[in-house]
Amino acid sequence: MEIGIFFILILICALYLWHSVDFMLSKGPNRVVNTNSNLKTCLPIIRDIIKRYNISPNTTTYLEPGAGYGLIGQALSQEFYWKNPTALEISSSTYTVGFIINKISHSRIHYIHENIFEYSFPKNAFIYCYISTAMINRLYQEGKFDTSLVISLTFEISNIKPTERIAIPGWQKQILVYDFR
Ligand SMILES: C[S@@+](CC[C@H](N)C(=O)[O-])C[C@H]1O[C@@H](n2cnc3c(N)ncnc32)[C@H](O)[C@@H]1O
Repeated sequence: MEIGIFFILILICALYLWHSVDFMLSKGPNRVVNTNSNLKTCLPIIRDIIKRYNISPNTTTYLEPGAGYGLIGQALSQEFYWKNPTALEISSSTYTVGFIINKISHSRIHYIHENIFEYSFPKNAFIYCYISTAMINRLYQEGKFDTSLVISLTFEISNIKPTERIAIPGWQKQILVYDFR
């Protein structure tokens, strides 16, 4: 029993160390690896957007490119029955931690270890993202947002007027809605 607990503790320490080193060594857009959406602030606003923009979750795909541990997607897929709730994460260490969290919490989300630029985006989706300007611009330019409703935390798509801009308290500053449907 004690040996079991000892090994679990060693495993948690190793995972934490790997995750920290991975974060320190990561460059470019992945550098924001440890920053997550504030669930308390963001969830009520996303709920309200779903209602006001007449989204029908059971006929709409939920997609979260750059999902971190997948916590937002997990919360939203507990509350709404999405057609195909999917979250994509590139970082191996973040994905490993998120995979364990999602397994333990019996999350409905399809949590995938995948580069968003190599993923084929669905049409008419509800997309939530918290990724850098460079990344969101690239997804837009590649046409991955066509026919979808996109919510972006903090970062704007350059030179595209958002359908709505919602100010939020704290340094994450704003939530932007882009209705490309
Ligand atoms: C700021 S976090 C946001 C996490 C989560 N979406 C949230 O709102 O709490 C951005 C995540 O995108 C991931 N990411 C960066 N580049 C990516 C890529 N090309 N493909 C998939 N995920 C990527 C990072 O590893 C990081 O976990």
